[in-house]
Amino acid sequence: MGQQRSIIIKSDPAAVATAGAEAFVAAANSAIASTGRFTVALSGGSTPKALFALLADPNQPYRNQLSWDRLYIFWGDERHVPPDDPNSNYLMAYTNLLSKVPIPEANIHRIQAENGDSTAAAADYQSDIQTFFHAAPGTFPAFDLILLGMGPDGHTASLFPNTTALTETTKLVTSTWVEKLHTDRITFTYPLINAAKAVLFLVTGADKAPVVKTILTSDAPQYPASNIRPTTGTLTWILDTAAAG
Ligand code: 6PG
Repeated sequence: MGQQRSIIIKSDPAAVATAGAEAFVAAANSAIASTGRFTVALSGGSTPKALFALLADPNQPYRNQLSWDRLYIFWGDERHVPPDDPNSNYLMAYTNLLSKVPIPEANIHRIQAENGDSTAAAADYQSDIQTFFHAAPGTFPAFDLILLGMGPDGHTASLFPNTTALTETTKLVTSTWVEKLHTDRITFTYPLINAAKAVLFLVTGADKAPVVKTILTSDAPQYPASNIRPTTGTLTWILDTAAAG
């Protein structure tokens, strides 16, 4: 278990997004104050979309509180599709956030999931991360913040129950076949996520309540999200009342 786990419950998905935006800005400004930059891995799914829209909105306070050229954007997982595919996590973040803020293209590190060989795409992304962080082979660099969601089956990033990705202990990024979706996914591994300085889950919706309850009240390693326990970093769950049951 990490040093600290916080659970924050908000009334609805919009309030979850607001709390997520506040946490994002606080993490960014603290990292920039101490290291001059903010390294963040985004997630896909519907929940972060509202967060991205808030961060990009010129009529909200967040956009002007961020030094966008100090942000370095990565993704914790990606679908095995090109960047212009409607299912691309990159496209979702680009459309709702990155195309709307003054962030240099060079600061955006997407997973090259248009590569037909998803294993090669995962290896290339691992190399990109190792080069960026000057991380020696066998070490796991610490992102300032990793944003995560959770599916009703307890998956997080693209760490799905009963997949080979769950037993990966040496790679930072892996490709994994997800039988229930009949596709490969490219995902950060447990050790890379658990090396982060901060991990933030944003979870909304009543369909997730049973798994949320099990994970937050017991030891439930069968649900991948429950195995996210930063070694030294912080772990925060922001839930709406529906997900909190
Ligand atoms: C993805 C995600 C995934 C997501 C959960 C929750 O690529 O699909 O990164 O792990 O976060 O499925 O998704 P929702 O927020 O849409 O419920």
